[in-house]
Amino acid sequence: MKTVIVTGGCGFIGSHFVRRLIRRTFFRVVNLDKLTYAGDLFRLGDVTEGERYRMVKGDIADRDLVREVFEEEWPWGVVNFAAESHVDRSILDPLPFLHSNILGVQNLLEAARRHLVRRFIQISTDEVYGDADGKGAFDEGCSLNPSSPYAATKAAADLLSKAYSRTYGVPVLIVRSTNNYGPYQFPEKFIPLLIGNALRKEELPIYGDGAQRRDWLYVEDNAEAILRVMETGQAGSTYNVGTGEERSNLEVVHTICRLLAEETGEDLEALLRRIRFVADRPGHDRRYFLVTEKIAKEVGWTPSVSFELGLQRTVRWYVNNKSWTESILSGEYRDYYTAVYVKEWATKGSR
Ligand code: NAD
Ligand code: DAU
Repeated sequence: MKTVIVTGGCGFIGSHFVRRLIRRTFFRVVNLDKLTYAGDLFRLGDVTEGERYRMVKGDIADRDLVREVFEEEWPWGVVNFAAESHVDRSILDPLPFLHSNILGVQNLLEAARRHLVRRFIQISTDEVYGDADGKGAFDEGCSLNPSSPYAATKAAADLLSKAYSRTYGVPVLIVRSTNNYGPYQFPEKFIPLLIGNALRKEELPIYGDGAQRRDWLYVEDNAEAILRVMETGQAGSTYNVGTGEERSNLEVVHTICRLLAEETGEDLEALLRRIRFVADRPGHDRRYFLVTEKIAKEVGWTPSVSFELGLQRTVRWYVNNKSWTESILSGEYRDYYTAVYVKEWATKGSR
């Protein structure tokens, strides 16, 4: 049986991908996850350990541990989701992002090289291209121009991956997707934060003027895209993933309020009155937008879930799983929330 090491499989996108691998393929899955504040075993509570699934708690930046796991498993493939993923946290304190998103990736690439893996999928992001405002759409050949510390570390990881591909022949494939949303997303991110705050009758914070534009991709569509790239993509290639539709943040908050009113019976006007324009994110990119023809042509992937349907499913999931969100609103999350929304970007800084 071929083994795939999935890192960050207890995170939002990684957990959807692990479940898809277990249910739709014959691969054995080894999930290597540090279980940071963003990792949660509960996301994979329905996947049991056994012949097809092994969970290893550990840090991809721990070179000895990574070596050990590769030595035990001799994996066919690696899919690296593990990362510090939240832009706002990278503005408060960039150091953990360098640790996991750069050093961690180098460790994985080195282990992949030594163990002759057949597929190394680096999960990247549209943010590596930088702000698309006034610039049309970015294709895979565009230069990298990251804005936030988070995006800079992801761009560094892409460059390291390309270097390992060219210098050592590691069969790297890079996947750069737009903003994901769906069940089990950590409530610091825009869509679950708005849904959670609305359900608790709190304010709905919109950074700056709310005219920033994003392309929202349903998480299951992204998991399928990554699986297809892993199975049929061209080694050495980069694939953009997105829906080709963009929406302003204000459009998103209005749609969430409408869907919540339909789902819960709460008054729509009362929900809309909770929208608050708050201090903007420093360095905030106005727009991301990708050309996605390559993945459609070479891998045969196109999105299958419309924004209306995906958001309706997501809103319903958060309404029915309030206890999951509540379990996360711990001291650590409260401190983070205060730093961004109450103290308006008071920074912690790297030590
Ligand atoms: P997430 O924050 O929900 O999960 C990250 C997971 O990685 C967690 O389980 C965490 O415990 C684990 N992790 C973090 N550092 C680790 C380390 N050093 N060693 C081992 N495990 C570690 O993230 P997500 O939103 O699911 O994003 C997954 C990947 O997709 C990231 O690489 C991110 O950059 C990328 N991405 C995310 C989006 C999005 O919209 N969420 C869009 C494009 C790309
Ligand atoms: O584009 C892909 C990226 O999408 C991923 O690489 C990142 O890992 C992921 O976190 C996400 O980054 P964003 O910064 O785009 O997503 P976020 O959900 O933080 O914010 C989406 C938009 O909403 C952005 O324009 C900022 C805005 N926003 C966000 C929050 C949390 C608000 O207006 N208010 C908020 O409270």
